[in-house]
Amino acid sequence: LFAGEVTFVKGVVAMSGLPDADRPEVCFAGRSNVGKSSLINALTGRKALARASNTPGRTQEINYFDLGGQTFLVDLPGYGYANAPLPKVEKWQALLKQYLSGRATLRRAFVLIDARHGIKPVDEEIMALLDSSAVTFQCVLTKADKVKAAERDKMLAQVRTRLATHAAAFPEIVLTSSEKGDGIATLRAIIATLE
Ligand code: GTP
Ligand code: MG
Repeated sequence: LFAGEVTFVKGVVAMSGLPDADRPEVCFAGRSNVGKSSLINALTGRKALARASNTPGRTQEINYFDLGGQTFLVDLPGYGYANAPLPKVEKWQALLKQYLSGRATLRRAFVLIDARHGIKPVDEEIMALLDSSAVTFQCVLTKADKVKAAERDKMLAQVRTRLATHAAAFPEIVLTSSEKGDGIATLRAIIATLE
């Protein structure tokens, strides 16, 4: 699947702008700055396909990428704090929630958690929304290169415990580094099975 061509399809600002639901898709959700866009770049092997930056609130639209004409990869705006005007943030957060609870072809939501910070109350809120919408989700710990082994194991244990309380959670946690490449092949393999 990842051997095929990858192209930007469109940026969506309202549910009415979503592309035709004619193929499976997976999305990347998480707090602002957690590394969603960087992960899409690492998965596709394209450095600047999705725009990443150190400013929380970089991605402000639902960005669709086409993978080999078979699957959509969906880069979402972040939730939680963002360095952007409040009305704008509120608008994209509302859209995000509509999307996560109302997209029939969404096969899995990857919920990204910073390996340094663990699961926060805003993450719990999103996971509860996914539970109630019956959207299977899987946690991805990001920025693995920034934590020592002991801290990483502590976070894995925290996430495992929290996931046990969520009905829609897929139990396997993937540890990734978009910088160093950890977990990228694993995640590609998981996405390839979701067609
Ligand atoms: P928003 O679009 O603002 O919600 O952020 P995002 O979740 O898309 O994060 P983005 O990919 O833009 O990355 C945020 C910052 O984290 C950037 O400065 C990235 O370079 C950095 N970053 C992302 N992934 C990693 C990683 O695996 N390791 C390290 N060290 N830095 C990372
Ligand atoms: Mg982004």
